[in-house]
Amino acid sequence: MSDTQPYAKFSYDAHARTCAPDDFLGQTRRTVQGVAIPEAQIHMILDAIRDGLQLRSDDVLLELACGNGALSVQLFDACRGYLGTDISEYLVSVAKQHFERLPDYRFEMLGGVECVHHEPQPERFTRALCYAGFQYFADSDAKDILMTLHERFTYLERIFIGNLPDRARAADFYTSREASAEELSDPNTALGIWRTREAFAQLARDAGWQADFSVMPQGFHAAHYRYDAVLTRRG
Ligand SMILES: C[S@@+](CC[C@H](N)C(=O)[O-])C[C@H]1O[C@@H](n2cnc3c(N)ncnc32)[C@H](O)[C@@H]1O
Repeated sequence: MSDTQPYAKFSYDAHARTCAPDDFLGQTRRTVQGVAIPEAQIHMILDAIRDGLQLRSDDVLLELACGNGALSVQLFDACRGYLGTDISEYLVSVAKQHFERLPDYRFEMLGGVECVHHEPQPERFTRALCYAGFQYFADSDAKDILMTLHERFTYLERIFIGNLPDRARAADFYTSREASAEELSDPNTALGIWRTREAFAQLARDAGWQADFSVMPQGFHAAHYRYDAVLTRRG
């Protein structure tokens, strides 16, 4: 018999359908104890993404796990083209309705693995982004995605992967209970897989990428248990 405590599973698609159609922050759980995080925190996220991606006006950006596109739209003016993909039918429908600018800035319902394998023109992308989403990829999918981005997306120079829960700092988040190893390794929870920087760097290295890490400024609500990573091609 296992003595691990049961824990809750989570679906963004199901959660988002319970929110108001225009509650963009609530739909992607950009909330602390149920209250939407202040605008200044959104600016901090966008600053981190911009710093990490270093977008140039002729870049074409691929985003995995883009959610409802509320953050993505803020990047459109800084690049020539954009494709945002997400596994949630509902969140992609919100993105299409509110933020899509055809033909160059598009959203599509696709899981991360499906997206990287089936993109018909991978060589058009020069930048990639996965914000608050990579932790929902199981290890085998995470490896597959990073390897496929390296092999098929030959002009991809830089990937920003943000808001990752740090396994080494899980106790700074779970202060009133201890989360089991099983929970911290389960992609189907509200917070996804908690990985140490070393584990993440190894995943990236095995796929041909060098990972450089940063943390958000101290005033950011999740700075104490999350980190960001920029991936560039090794050697
Ligand atoms: C916290 S939300 C982040 C959304 C968006 N990147 C943002 O920061 O606003 C996590 C997203 O990951 C998506 N997701 C989870 N598993 C996925 C998968 N296997 N492939 C693609 N997207 C996935 C969810 O549908 C959800 O939109």
